[in-house]
Amino acid sequence: MLRPVVARHRLQKVRLDELNKFVPSPPFVPLVCQHHPQIAVRCANRVGKTRHVCFKAANHMVANPGSRWRFVGPNRAQVQDVSGLYLSQFLQPYLHRKCYYLEGKGWNTSTIILRNGSICQLKSYDDRPDTHAGSSFDGVVLDEPPPKPHFAENQARTIDRGGQFILTFTAVNRPVGWMRQIIEEQNWPQIVVPFRREHVPWYSAEKFDAMVDVFRSSPWQWAQRVDADWEGITEGRVYTGFTKQNVVSRYRLGTSRSVSVSTMAPPQAIRRPS
Ligand SMILES: Nc1ncnc2c1ncn2[C@@H]1O[C@H](COP(=O)(O)OP(=O)(O)OP(=O)(O)O)[C@@H](O)[C@H]1O
Ligand SMILES: [Mg+2]
Repeated sequence: MLRPVVARHRLQKVRLDELNKFVPSPPFVPLVCQHHPQIAVRCANRVGKTRHVCFKAANHMVANPGSRWRFVGPNRAQVQDVSGLYLSQFLQPYLHRKCYYLEGKGWNTSTIILRNGSICQLKSYDDRPDTHAGSSFDGVVLDEPPPKPHFAENQARTIDRGGQFILTFTAVNRPVGWMRQIIEEQNWPQIVVPFRREHVPWYSAEKFDAMVDVFRSSPWQWAQRVDADWEGITEGRVYTGFTKQNVVSRYRLGTSRSVSVSTMAPPQAIRRPS
């Protein structure tokens, strides 16, 4: 049986390791290591975008006393259950004594507070956009495509403090054309992370294959969910069994090219990631 002081010390060490032992996936290294006034991180599903951006926020909060972050997720439940959980794992040893996270319940306060005075406000797209107004931050993360009003309210929040405005998303579930236009016209740095074996070394081969099988069940979103594309309609993908009878629409790609869209692409015909 360990004496209490020793036991506490060991526990502390294990917890500290969560932040210190985190190994970023190679394509996320520029996100976690560099300062970007604004950056778009367009990713496949399940490739680690939320965990990496939580690591970045947690690391900055711990290293810079008094820093201010805001994390915005798609809905209140996701913010507590996923990003809230990741933040709690990284921040556990640094929390103010009044602030704690309970699995299944979430955070006891809407703002995470560290002993060093850093804070992270948790919000979601369920909150009205006007509730996103009014404060300045060193970092604002919008996880998953935001509604336009939430984007607008948050974009200006980092300018006063020379902070970072970070979008992490898979381009599904909401129109993203307007966001793409802003990112491309304003020349934002972009990180693109498709679902590839070498990008997710923490999954076993079986888990990786199971994940690919899940993605096969929505082949029309394969491009966004697996290849991290902006849109689901792309050139060069092979559909066996595709005939003229399957064509329901033709989409123009630029001035001289177009692509046919089939409603009947059999899942097994879709190329797997190499
Ligand atoms: N660098 C890492 N090392 C070990 N595990 C990781 C790492 N990054 C992410 N993971 C794990 O991978 C899984 C998916 O991570 P995460 O939720 O961040 O992915 P996501 O891309 O945000 O997924 P979704 O598409 O569902 O939003 C989680 O179990 C997470 O703990
Ligand atoms: Mg996520």
